[in-house]
Parts: sequence; C-alpha cells; structure tokens
Amino acid sequence: MGKGSGYGKVILFGEHFVVHGVPGIVSAIDSSNDAIVTKAKKGLNVKDERKAAKGYSQEKRLQQIESIERMLKAMNLDPKTALDIWVGGSLPGFSGLGASAASSVAIARAVSEEFNLNLSNEQINAVAYEGEKAYAGNPSGIDNTAATYGGFMWFKKNPAGGQDLVERLKVYRPIEIVIGSTGKVANTKAMVEGVAERKRKDPKKYDPLFKQAENIAVAGRKALEAGDLKKVGDLMNENHRILQEIGVSSKELDQLVEIARKQGAFGAKLTGGGGGGCMIALTGGKEVSGKIVGAFKGAGFEYLMTKIGVATH
Ligand code: PMV
Repeated sequence: MGKGSGYGKVILFGEHFVVHGVPGIVSAIDSSNDAIVTKAKKGLNVKDERKAAKGYSQEKRLQQIESIERMLKAMNLDPKTALDIWVGGSLPGFSGLGASAASSVAIARAVSEEFNLNLSNEQINAVAYEGEKAYAGNPSGIDNTAATYGGFMWFKKNPAGGQDLVERLKVYRPIEIVIGSTGKVANTKAMVEGVAERKRKDPKKYDPLFKQAENIAVAGRKALEAGDLKKVGDLMNENHRILQEIGVSSKELDQLVEIARKQGAFGAKLTGGGGGGCMIALTGGKEVSGKIVGAFKGAGFEYLMTKIGVATH
C-alpha cells in the first residue's frame, strides 16, 4: 500500500494568462487531497470520497481515468496496471482550487511508494503535470507545482517547453482569506481553450489585457512582499476586471465578489479556471472573514475559510 498527498491552491494573480507565459502568483492552502494506492488483481478501481460540488466526480471521471493512465506511463509503468485507488482529504472538489492537480500529486506519490520508485519532488511534479493534461488540455503547470511544493510562489511558464521559472515568495505572516464556491462545476480545459481561441481571433483586444495582467502580477508581488494588503486587494480587484474582459467570469462569481467587497474585503476575484468554480476574498482578519462567510451563507453559497502562506512541503 502506498500513500501520498498534494496541496490545494489559490491563484492570487494571473490565472489563464500564465498559460501563455505571463507570470502568476499562487499559494498553497492548508487543505489537501490524499491518496492510497494498492496493487489489484484487475482493472483500475477509483473510489473518490472527496467532498465535492454536485456533479464534480461524475463530470471529471473520464478525465481522472485518463489522468491516471498518463501518469502511470510517465512513471514507466503499464498504463493498464491494475490498481485500487482511494482519493479523499480535506480539499473539497470545488472547481478552481486545483483539486485535480492535488489529487494527481497525491496519486503520483502513492504510486511511487507502492512501486518503490523513490521519485523526487521534481519527478512527482513532472508526472503530475502529465496527469494535468487530461483535465486542462494545455496546463501552465502552476497547479501541479503548488500541489507538489506548497508555499507561496511566483510562477512563469516557459512557453518553449523548457524549465519554468518558479520562485518562492516570502510573506511576513499567513494571510486570511475566504473562498466562495459557486457550486458550479467548470470544465477547465474548455475555459483554457476558449481564452486561447479568443486571443488568437482578437489580438487587438487581448494583447493589451495580457500586458495589464503582467503589470498586475509584478505590482502584486511587490505589494505582497511589502505586506501591503490594501494594495494587494486593489490589484486583485483589477485582476478580476480583466478576467471578466477575457470572458471567464460568471454571474455567480461576480455576485460572490460583490458580496465580499461589500462586507469589507481588501479585494476579491475569481480564482482558477472560472466559468463557475471559486473566488477568493482577501480579508486580513477573522472579523471580516466572519462577515463574508455569513453573507455567503445567507445567499446560499458554500465557502472555505483558510489562510495562505502556510502550507509547505
Ligand atoms: O481551475 P483550476 O483550479 O484547474 O485552475 C486552472 C488555472 C488556469 O490558469 C486557468 C489553467 C492553468 O493550467 O494554469
């Protein structure tokens, strides 16, 4: 029997833009997915016991099987190896929190243990990236990197396919956030493809937005490293606006963002692939977090109150 786990994450700046080589900022959250893998007699039997948005496991089921087969291949194992796999843990299957990458890292670690492969973190990360392709089509790699290493990171994909730039960021203290879930499962792959297609068709509109996204990430890094949460919040608001412009927000995401700002968040934005899934609000403390959570509950949304800048491997 092999065991493993992988962190969930929130993207503070740059989702979607990172796929195209713009830098982004990601933090692991203090919730993870765990996996237990055991060699079996027949078939690939996956028992997914994560708390999930309605329809999450069914919607992702085929992608999950493809993802596991891709990872087995990347570990030089037969993709049809018979396995019993259990997936669980505290990270809920809400879209946008990197649950696919967290479970891929958890499964890769558990397979590595079960087959005595002794894979390093770097190798686990590379294997999980192969797994992510099943969920995201052309992933940036930001999710699996956060899921593998944890912590707070500056991430810039190398579009040529070489080594990505990953730098650890220092934050002075853990930062309180609230995550709001729309309850809608989103198809990351379709969202990523949609942005790429619109960008290709309308560079006049999209090129300046991509430049703005880069400026926001650079300014966001400075503000985070200086501990200026008010500034970080303002930049998150700006980031949400350009995510709306590239067509990845939704009615519910905008509603959650509005509620959070009204209750006193420093800033709020969608996080992850969008089109449903989750948003984050930077609250700076328990009092504002509590108010936001109360308002989310009142409006019928699920949420997660957590901190960023803590979990690390
Ligand atoms: O929705 P999630 O948690 O899978 O996050 C996707 C993040 C994107 O930037 C949209 C895609 C990527 O691979 O970076």
